[in-house]
Amino acid sequence: MAKDTVLDRRIRLMGADAPLFYSQPIHLVRGEGVWLYDAAGNRYLDAYNNVANVGHCHPHVVEALEKQAKTLNTHTRYLHEAILDYGEALTATFEDHLSRVYLCCSGTEANELALRIAKICSGAEGVIVTDFCYHGNSQTIAELSTAFPGPEGIGKNVRTVTSPDIYRLHQNLSEEESAARFTADVDAAIDSLAEAGMKPAAFLVDTVFATEGLPDMPGGAMEQAVASVHAAGGYYIADEVQPGFGRTGKNMWGYQLYNAVPDLVTMGKPMGNGHPIAGVVSRVDLAKEFGKKAMYFNTFGGNPVSASVGLSVLEVIKQDRLMQNAKKVGEHLRAGLRKLANKHVIIGDVRGHGLFVVAELVTDTANKTPASMETGVVVDGMRERGVLISRTGRNDNVLKIRPPLPFSKENADLLLNTLDHTLHSL
Ligand SMILES: Cc1ncc(COP(=O)(O)O)c(C=O)c1O
Repeated sequence: MAKDTVLDRRIRLMGADAPLFYSQPIHLVRGEGVWLYDAAGNRYLDAYNNVANVGHCHPHVVEALEKQAKTLNTHTRYLHEAILDYGEALTATFEDHLSRVYLCCSGTEANELALRIAKICSGAEGVIVTDFCYHGNSQTIAELSTAFPGPEGIGKNVRTVTSPDIYRLHQNLSEEESAARFTADVDAAIDSLAEAGMKPAAFLVDTVFATEGLPDMPGGAMEQAVASVHAAGGYYIADEVQPGFGRTGKNMWGYQLYNAVPDLVTMGKPMGNGHPIAGVVSRVDLAKEFGKKAMYFNTFGGNPVSASVGLSVLEVIKQDRLMQNAKKVGEHLRAGLRKLANKHVIIGDVRGHGLFVVAELVTDTANKTPASMETGVVVDGMRERGVLISRTGRNDNVLKIRPPLPFSKENADLLLNTLDHTLHSL
Protein backbone atom coordinates (compact mmCIF):
# COMPACT_ATOMS: atom_id res chain seq x y z
CA MET A 1 0.00 0.00 0.00
CA ALA A 2 1.28 3.49 -0.84
CA LYS A 3 2.59 5.37 2.18
CA ASP A 4 0.66 8.46 3.33
CA THR A 5 2.26 11.67 2.12
CA VAL A 6 2.62 14.70 4.38
CA LEU A 7 -0.19 16.26 2.34
CA ASP A 8 -2.48 13.25 2.91
CA ARG A 9 -1.88 13.36 6.66
CA ARG A 10 -2.45 17.08 6.73
CA ILE A 11 -5.73 16.92 4.83
CA ARG A 12 -6.99 14.13 7.07
CA LEU A 13 -6.11 16.09 10.20
CA MET A 14 -6.63 19.74 9.18
CA GLY A 15 -9.07 19.40 6.30
CA ALA A 16 -8.65 20.29 2.65
CA ASP A 17 -9.87 23.84 3.38
CA ALA A 18 -6.83 24.82 5.47
CA PRO A 19 -5.09 27.21 3.04
CA LEU A 20 -1.78 26.24 1.42
CA PHE A 21 0.49 28.23 -0.87
CA TYR A 22 1.11 27.18 -4.49
CA SER A 23 -0.59 24.54 -6.63
CA GLN A 24 2.36 22.28 -5.70
CA PRO A 25 2.68 22.94 -1.94
CA ILE A 26 6.19 23.10 -0.51
CA HIS A 27 7.36 20.97 2.41
CA LEU A 28 9.89 23.20 4.15
CA VAL A 29 12.35 21.78 6.65
CA ARG A 30 14.98 24.47 7.22
CA GLY A 31 15.56 28.20 6.92
CA GLU A 32 18.60 30.45 7.05
CA GLY A 33 18.62 34.18 6.30
CA VAL A 34 16.64 34.73 3.10
CA TRP A 35 16.82 31.04 2.12
CA LEU A 36 14.38 28.20 2.71
CA TYR A 37 15.06 24.49 2.07
CA ASP A 38 12.53 21.77 1.31
CA ALA A 39 12.57 18.11 2.30
CA ALA A 40 14.17 17.15 -1.04
CA GLY A 41 17.05 19.57 -0.43
CA ASN A 42 15.88 22.26 -2.90
CA ARG A 43 16.72 25.84 -1.99
CA TYR A 44 14.23 28.72 -2.36
CA LEU A 45 14.82 32.45 -2.21
CA ASP A 46 12.24 33.73 0.28
CA ALA A 47 10.81 36.93 -1.15
CA TYR A 48 7.54 36.70 0.71
CA ASN A 49 7.84 36.19 4.46
CA ASN A 50 7.78 39.34 6.58
CA VAL A 51 7.42 37.16 9.67
CA ALA A 52 11.10 36.16 9.42
CA ASN A 53 11.78 39.89 9.34
CA VAL A 54 15.46 39.78 10.28
CA GLY A 55 16.09 36.53 8.38
CA HIS A 56 15.14 32.93 9.12
CA CYS A 57 16.67 31.52 12.32
CA HIS A 58 18.78 34.61 12.98
CA PRO A 59 21.46 33.48 15.49
CA HIS A 60 21.01 36.50 17.78
CA VAL A 61 17.25 35.86 18.04
CA VAL A 62 17.71 32.10 18.54
CA GLU A 63 20.30 32.75 21.24
CA ALA A 64 18.04 35.21 23.08
CA LEU A 65 15.19 32.69 22.98
CA GLU A 66 17.35 29.81 24.16
CA LYS A 67 18.99 31.79 26.96
CA GLN A 68 15.70 32.99 28.45
CA ALA A 69 13.88 29.68 27.88
CA LYS A 70 16.62 27.92 29.88
CA THR A 71 16.30 30.41 32.73
CA LEU A 72 12.64 31.25 33.35
CA ASN A 73 9.32 31.62 31.59
CA THR A 74 6.33 32.95 33.50
CA HIS A 75 3.79 35.69 32.85
CA THR A 76 3.30 39.37 33.56
CA ARG A 77 1.78 38.96 37.03
CA TYR A 78 5.31 38.68 38.36
CA LEU A 79 7.91 41.42 38.13
CA HIS A 80 10.49 40.84 35.41
CA GLU A 81 12.91 43.14 33.56
CA ALA A 82 12.51 41.46 30.16
CA ILE A 83 9.13 43.02 29.40
CA LEU A 84 10.37 46.40 30.65
CA ASP A 85 13.57 46.30 28.59
CA TYR A 86 11.54 45.33 25.56
CA GLY A 87 8.67 47.75 26.18
CA GLU A 88 11.09 50.65 26.63
CA ALA A 89 13.00 49.79 23.46
CA LEU A 90 9.76 49.37 21.51
CA THR A 91 8.04 52.55 22.67
CA ALA A 92 11.26 54.51 21.99
CA THR A 93 10.50 53.98 18.29
CA PHE A 94 7.21 55.92 18.62
CA GLU A 95 6.19 59.52 19.22
CA ASP A 96 6.32 60.44 22.93
CA HIS A 97 2.60 60.13 23.64
CA LEU A 98 2.51 56.56 22.32
CA SER A 99 4.20 55.07 25.34
CA ARG A 100 1.94 52.40 26.84
CA VAL A 101 2.39 48.86 25.69
CA TYR A 102 0.22 45.73 25.84
CA LEU A 103 1.70 42.44 24.65
CA CYS A 104 -0.33 39.57 23.27
CA CYS A 105 0.17 36.64 20.89
CA SER A 106 -1.37 37.43 17.48
CA GLY A 107 -2.28 40.32 15.23
CA THR A 108 -5.95 39.41 15.68
CA GLU A 109 -5.66 39.74 19.44
CA ALA A 110 -3.88 43.07 19.05
CA ASN A 111 -6.66 44.44 16.85
CA GLU A 112 -9.32 43.07 19.24
CA LEU A 113 -7.67 44.85 22.14
CA ALA A 114 -7.12 48.13 20.28
CA LEU A 115 -10.74 48.12 19.19
CA ARG A 116 -11.87 47.42 22.72
CA ILE A 117 -9.81 50.34 24.03
CA ALA A 118 -11.21 52.61 21.30
CA LYS A 119 -14.78 51.57 22.04
CA ILE A 120 -14.48 51.92 25.80
CA CYS A 121 -12.70 55.28 25.63
CA SER A 122 -14.97 56.81 22.99
CA GLY A 123 -18.19 55.30 24.34
CA ALA A 124 -19.00 54.63 20.70
CA GLU A 125 -19.30 51.40 18.72
CA GLY A 126 -18.88 52.24 15.02
CA VAL A 127 -15.85 51.07 13.07
CA ILE A 128 -14.65 52.36 9.71
CA VAL A 129 -12.44 50.11 7.59
CA THR A 130 -11.64 49.82 3.90
CA ASP A 131 -13.80 47.67 1.65
CA PHE A 132 -10.99 45.18 0.92
CA CYS A 133 -9.10 44.64 4.15
CA TYR A 134 -7.94 41.86 6.46
CA HIS A 135 -7.34 42.40 10.16
CA GLY A 136 -7.67 38.92 11.69
CA ASN A 137 -9.80 35.90 12.42
CA SER A 138 -11.80 36.37 15.65
CA GLN A 139 -15.57 36.94 15.54
CA THR A 140 -15.36 40.73 15.93
CA ILE A 141 -12.41 41.17 13.60
CA ALA A 142 -13.80 38.74 10.98
CA GLU A 143 -16.91 40.93 10.88
CA LEU A 144 -14.80 43.87 9.72
CA SER A 145 -12.32 41.98 7.53
CA THR A 146 -14.03 42.85 4.26
CA ALA A 147 -11.67 41.06 1.87
CA PHE A 148 -12.73 37.61 3.08
CA PRO A 149 -16.27 38.00 4.38
CA GLY A 150 -17.47 34.95 6.29
CA PRO A 151 -21.04 33.71 6.54
CA GLU A 152 -21.48 36.03 9.56
CA GLY A 153 -21.31 38.96 7.15
CA ILE A 154 -20.04 42.46 7.93
CA GLY A 155 -21.00 43.80 11.38
CA LYS A 156 -23.94 46.22 11.73
CA ASN A 157 -21.53 48.69 13.35
CA VAL A 158 -19.04 48.53 10.46
CA ARG A 159 -18.87 51.02 7.58
CA THR A 160 -16.50 50.72 4.64
CA VAL A 161 -14.55 53.19 2.51
CA THR A 162 -12.61 52.53 -0.68
CA SER A 163 -8.89 53.16 -0.46
CA PRO A 164 -7.71 55.66 -3.08
CA ASP A 165 -6.19 53.93 -6.08
CA ILE A 166 -4.43 56.34 -8.39
CA TYR A 167 -3.58 53.62 -10.92
CA ARG A 168 -7.09 52.32 -11.39
CA LEU A 169 -10.16 53.72 -9.61
CA HIS A 170 -8.94 57.32 -9.38
CA GLN A 171 -6.92 57.38 -12.60
CA ASN A 172 -8.85 60.37 -13.94
CA LEU A 173 -8.63 62.38 -10.74
CA SER A 174 -5.90 64.78 -9.63
CA GLU A 175 -4.11 63.95 -6.39
CA GLU A 176 -6.22 66.54 -4.55
CA GLU A 177 -9.44 65.16 -6.00
CA SER A 178 -8.43 61.61 -5.09
CA ALA A 179 -7.66 62.64 -1.50
CA ALA A 180 -10.95 64.58 -1.31
CA ARG A 181 -12.86 61.51 -2.59
CA PHE A 182 -11.39 59.42 0.23
CA THR A 183 -12.27 62.02 2.87
CA ALA A 184 -15.79 62.31 1.44
CA ASP A 185 -16.09 58.50 1.74
CA VAL A 186 -15.01 58.66 5.39
CA ASP A 187 -17.46 61.51 6.06
CA ALA A 188 -20.24 59.48 4.40
CA ALA A 189 -19.36 56.51 6.62
CA ILE A 190 -19.63 58.73 9.71
CA ASP A 191 -23.01 60.06 8.46
CA SER A 192 -24.24 56.53 7.80
CA LEU A 193 -23.30 55.49 11.35
CA ALA A 194 -25.15 58.56 12.68
CA GLU A 195 -28.27 57.61 10.72
CA ALA A 196 -28.17 54.25 12.52
CA GLY A 197 -27.75 56.02 15.88
CA MET A 198 -24.01 55.27 16.18
CA LYS A 199 -20.76 57.19 16.40
CA PRO A 200 -17.34 56.04 15.18
CA ALA A 201 -15.10 54.47 17.82
CA ALA A 202 -12.30 53.68 15.39
CA PHE A 203 -10.89 54.07 11.93
CA LEU A 204 -8.83 50.89 11.52
CA VAL A 205 -6.47 50.64 8.55
CA ASP A 206 -3.42 48.70 7.44
CA THR A 207 -1.12 51.65 6.84
CA VAL A 208 0.22 50.40 3.49
CA PHE A 209 -3.13 48.90 2.41
CA ALA A 210 -1.44 45.55 1.75
CA THR A 211 -4.55 43.45 1.11
CA GLU A 212 -5.87 46.18 -1.18
CA GLY A 213 -2.69 45.80 -3.30
CA LEU A 214 -0.56 48.66 -1.96
CA PRO A 215 -2.29 51.44 -3.89
CA ASP A 216 -0.36 54.72 -4.05
CA MET A 217 -2.04 57.07 -1.58
CA PRO A 218 -2.56 60.66 -2.70
CA GLY A 219 -0.88 63.23 -0.46
CA GLY A 220 -3.16 64.47 2.30
CA ALA A 221 -5.68 61.61 2.06
CA MET A 222 -4.85 59.91 5.34
CA GLU A 223 -4.38 63.20 7.16
CA GLN A 224 -7.82 64.47 6.12
CA ALA A 225 -9.53 61.15 6.79
CA VAL A 226 -8.04 60.91 10.28
CA ALA A 227 -9.03 64.52 11.01
CA SER A 228 -12.65 63.68 10.12
CA VAL A 229 -12.64 60.62 12.39
CA HIS A 230 -11.12 62.62 15.25
CA ALA A 231 -13.69 65.40 14.81
CA ALA A 232 -16.44 62.76 15.14
CA GLY A 233 -14.90 61.45 18.39
CA GLY A 234 -13.26 58.29 17.01
CA TYR A 235 -9.68 57.04 17.19
CA TYR A 236 -7.19 56.12 14.48
CA ILE A 237 -5.87 52.55 14.88
CA ALA A 238 -2.84 51.91 12.66
CA ASP A 239 -2.50 48.22 11.85
CA GLU A 240 1.26 47.63 11.43
CA VAL A 241 1.04 43.83 11.28
CA GLN A 242 2.36 43.83 7.71
CA PRO A 243 4.29 47.11 7.24
CA GLY A 244 5.84 47.53 10.70
CA PHE A 245 9.38 47.03 12.01
CA GLY A 246 11.37 48.88 9.36
CA ARG A 247 9.94 47.32 6.22
CA THR A 248 8.93 50.58 4.56
CA GLY A 249 12.57 51.66 4.55
CA LYS A 250 12.25 55.29 5.60
CA ASN A 251 10.72 54.65 9.01
CA MET A 252 10.01 51.94 11.54
CA TRP A 253 6.26 52.26 11.03
CA GLY A 254 4.02 52.46 7.99
CA TYR A 255 1.88 55.23 9.46
CA GLN A 256 4.96 57.47 9.35
CA LEU A 257 4.46 57.64 5.57
CA TYR A 258 1.73 60.19 6.41
CA ASN A 259 1.46 63.16 8.73
CA ALA A 260 -1.29 61.58 10.79
CA VAL A 261 -0.21 60.11 14.11
CA PRO A 262 -2.35 57.21 15.35
CA ASP A 263 -3.98 56.92 18.76
CA LEU A 264 -3.34 53.17 18.88
CA VAL A 265 -0.92 51.02 16.92
CA THR A 266 -1.24 47.25 16.49
CA MET A 267 1.60 44.96 15.48
CA GLY A 268 2.41 41.27 15.13
CA LYS A 269 3.93 39.11 12.40
CA PRO A 270 7.55 40.43 12.20
CA MET A 271 7.71 41.32 15.89
CA GLY A 272 9.20 37.99 17.08
CA ASN A 273 10.74 36.79 13.81
CA GLY A 274 8.34 33.83 13.93
CA HIS A 275 7.88 33.58 17.69
CA PRO A 276 4.19 34.37 18.46
CA ILE A 277 4.36 37.85 19.88
CA ALA A 278 2.08 40.78 19.04
CA GLY A 279 1.09 43.99 20.73
CA VAL A 280 -0.68 47.30 21.01
CA VAL A 281 1.05 50.60 21.65
CA SER A 282 -1.39 53.14 22.98
CA ARG A 283 -1.72 56.78 23.88
CA VAL A 284 -1.13 57.03 27.64
CA ASP A 285 -4.45 58.77 28.33
CA LEU A 286 -6.39 56.07 26.51
CA ALA A 287 -4.56 53.31 28.35
CA LYS A 288 -5.29 55.02 31.68
CA GLU A 289 -8.99 55.37 30.86
CA PHE A 290 -9.18 51.77 29.68
CA GLY A 291 -7.38 50.55 32.81
CA LYS A 292 -9.95 52.27 35.05
CA LYS A 293 -12.79 50.43 33.35
CA ALA A 294 -11.42 47.06 32.26
CA MET A 295 -8.90 44.48 33.46
CA TYR A 296 -6.55 43.18 30.79
CA PHE A 297 -4.37 40.15 31.31
CA ASN A 298 -2.94 37.82 28.69
CA THR A 299 -1.39 34.59 30.02
CA PHE A 300 1.27 34.26 27.33
CA GLY A 301 1.53 37.86 26.17
CA GLY A 302 4.73 39.54 27.35
CA ASN A 303 6.26 36.45 28.95
CA PRO A 304 10.03 36.76 29.52
CA VAL A 305 10.93 34.49 26.58
CA SER A 306 8.73 36.40 24.11
CA ALA A 307 9.93 39.75 25.43
CA SER A 308 13.58 38.67 25.08
CA VAL A 309 12.93 37.53 21.53
CA GLY A 310 11.19 40.83 20.72
CA LEU A 311 14.13 42.80 22.07
CA SER A 312 16.61 40.74 20.06
CA VAL A 313 14.64 41.49 16.87
CA LEU A 314 14.82 45.23 17.53
CA GLU A 315 18.56 44.91 18.20
CA VAL A 316 19.16 43.14 14.89
CA ILE A 317 17.11 45.71 12.94
CA LYS A 318 19.32 48.43 14.42
CA GLN A 319 22.70 46.69 14.34
CA ASP A 320 22.33 45.30 10.83
CA ARG A 321 20.84 48.59 9.55
CA LEU A 322 17.95 46.62 8.09
CA MET A 323 15.66 49.62 7.62
CA GLN A 324 18.34 51.31 5.52
CA ASN A 325 18.79 48.07 3.60
CA ALA A 326 15.03 47.89 2.97
CA LYS A 327 15.13 51.37 1.46
CA LYS A 328 18.16 50.73 -0.74
CA VAL A 329 17.24 47.26 -1.98
CA GLY A 330 13.56 48.16 -2.31
CA GLU A 331 14.45 51.04 -4.66
CA HIS A 332 16.73 48.73 -6.64
CA LEU A 333 13.95 46.15 -6.94
CA ARG A 334 11.34 48.66 -8.06
CA ALA A 335 13.73 50.12 -10.62
CA GLY A 336 14.41 46.60 -11.94
CA LEU A 337 10.69 45.85 -12.15
CA ARG A 338 10.08 49.08 -14.07
CA LYS A 339 12.79 48.03 -16.53
CA LEU A 340 11.09 44.65 -16.90
CA ALA A 341 7.80 46.47 -17.54
CA ASN A 342 9.34 47.96 -20.72
CA LYS A 343 9.89 44.41 -21.94
CA HIS A 344 6.77 42.70 -20.60
CA VAL A 345 3.63 44.77 -21.16
CA ILE A 346 1.77 42.56 -18.69
CA ILE A 347 3.42 44.60 -15.89
CA GLY A 348 0.98 47.51 -15.70
CA ASP A 349 2.24 49.23 -12.55
CA VAL A 350 5.03 48.93 -9.98
CA ARG A 351 4.50 50.31 -6.47
CA GLY A 352 5.55 49.95 -2.88
CA HIS A 353 7.62 51.23 0.02
CA GLY A 354 11.02 49.86 1.01
CA LEU A 355 10.97 46.08 0.86
CA PHE A 356 7.21 45.91 0.40
CA VAL A 357 7.03 45.81 -3.38
CA VAL A 358 4.18 45.01 -5.77
CA ALA A 359 3.74 44.71 -9.53
CA GLU A 360 0.20 44.85 -10.88
CA LEU A 361 -0.36 42.58 -13.90
CA VAL A 362 -2.84 43.52 -16.65
CA THR A 363 -3.79 41.80 -19.88
CA ASP A 364 -4.06 45.10 -21.77
CA THR A 365 -2.50 48.38 -20.85
CA ALA A 366 -5.28 50.57 -22.23
CA ASN A 367 -8.12 49.06 -20.18
CA LYS A 368 -5.91 47.77 -17.37
CA THR A 369 -7.85 44.49 -17.41
CA PRO A 370 -6.61 42.50 -14.39
CA ALA A 371 -4.44 39.54 -15.42
CA SER A 372 -5.72 37.46 -12.50
CA MET A 373 -5.24 34.02 -14.06
CA GLU A 374 -1.76 34.91 -15.38
CA THR A 375 -0.74 36.23 -11.96
CA GLY A 376 -1.42 32.82 -10.43
CA VAL A 377 0.64 31.18 -13.18
CA VAL A 378 3.52 33.61 -12.51
CA VAL A 379 3.49 32.95 -8.75
CA ASP A 380 3.58 29.19 -9.37
CA GLY A 381 6.22 29.61 -12.10
CA MET A 382 8.44 31.59 -9.74
CA ARG A 383 8.08 28.88 -7.11
CA GLU A 384 9.04 26.22 -9.67
CA ARG A 385 12.14 28.29 -10.44
CA GLY A 386 13.03 28.64 -6.75
CA VAL A 387 11.72 32.11 -5.79
CA LEU A 388 8.83 32.46 -3.36
CA ILE A 389 6.40 35.36 -3.83
CA SER A 390 2.62 35.64 -3.60
CA ARG A 391 -0.23 37.77 -4.86
CA THR A 392 -2.76 40.21 -3.46
CA GLY A 393 -5.29 42.91 -4.39
CA ARG A 394 -9.02 42.84 -5.00
CA ASN A 395 -8.50 41.17 -8.41
CA ASP A 396 -5.71 38.88 -7.19
CA ASN A 397 -3.54 40.31 -9.96
CA VAL A 398 -0.84 42.03 -7.89
CA LEU A 399 2.47 40.25 -7.34
CA LYS A 400 3.36 40.62 -3.67
CA ILE A 401 7.06 40.77 -2.80
CA ARG A 402 7.77 41.14 0.93
CA PRO A 403 11.06 39.40 1.76
CA PRO A 404 13.00 39.19 5.02
CA LEU A 405 14.80 42.54 5.43
CA PRO A 406 18.40 41.23 4.92
CA PHE A 407 17.41 40.76 1.24
CA SER A 408 20.41 41.93 -0.82
CA LYS A 409 20.74 43.55 -4.26
CA GLU A 410 22.02 40.18 -5.52
CA ASN A 411 18.88 38.51 -4.15
CA ALA A 412 16.78 41.18 -5.87
CA ASP A 413 18.62 40.57 -9.16
CA LEU A 414 17.97 36.82 -8.88
CA LEU A 415 14.28 37.57 -8.35
CA LEU A 416 14.22 39.92 -11.36
CA ASN A 417 15.97 37.41 -13.66
CA THR A 418 13.63 34.66 -12.54
CA LEU A 419 10.61 36.89 -13.13
CA ASP A 420 11.95 37.77 -16.59
CA HIS A 421 12.18 34.04 -17.48
CA THR A 422 8.80 33.30 -15.96
CA LEU A 423 7.09 36.10 -17.89
CA HIS A 424 8.78 34.97 -21.12
CA SER A 425 7.31 31.50 -20.62
CA LEU A 426 3.69 32.73 -20.26
C1 LIG B 1 -2.93 43.63 8.28
C2 LIG B 1 -3.16 42.43 9.15
N1 LIG B 1 -3.70 42.61 10.37
C3 LIG B 1 -3.91 41.57 11.20
C4 LIG B 1 -3.61 40.28 10.82
C5 LIG B 1 -3.90 39.14 11.76
O1 LIG B 1 -2.73 38.66 12.32
P1 LIG B 1 -2.66 37.19 12.96
O2 LIG B 1 -2.74 36.21 11.83
O3 LIG B 1 -1.36 37.17 13.69
O4 LIG B 1 -3.83 37.07 13.89
C6 LIG B 1 -3.03 40.06 9.56
C7 LIG B 1 -2.67 38.68 9.15
O5 LIG B 1 -2.45 38.36 7.99
C8 LIG B 1 -2.81 41.16 8.71
O6 LIG B 1 -2.26 41.00 7.50
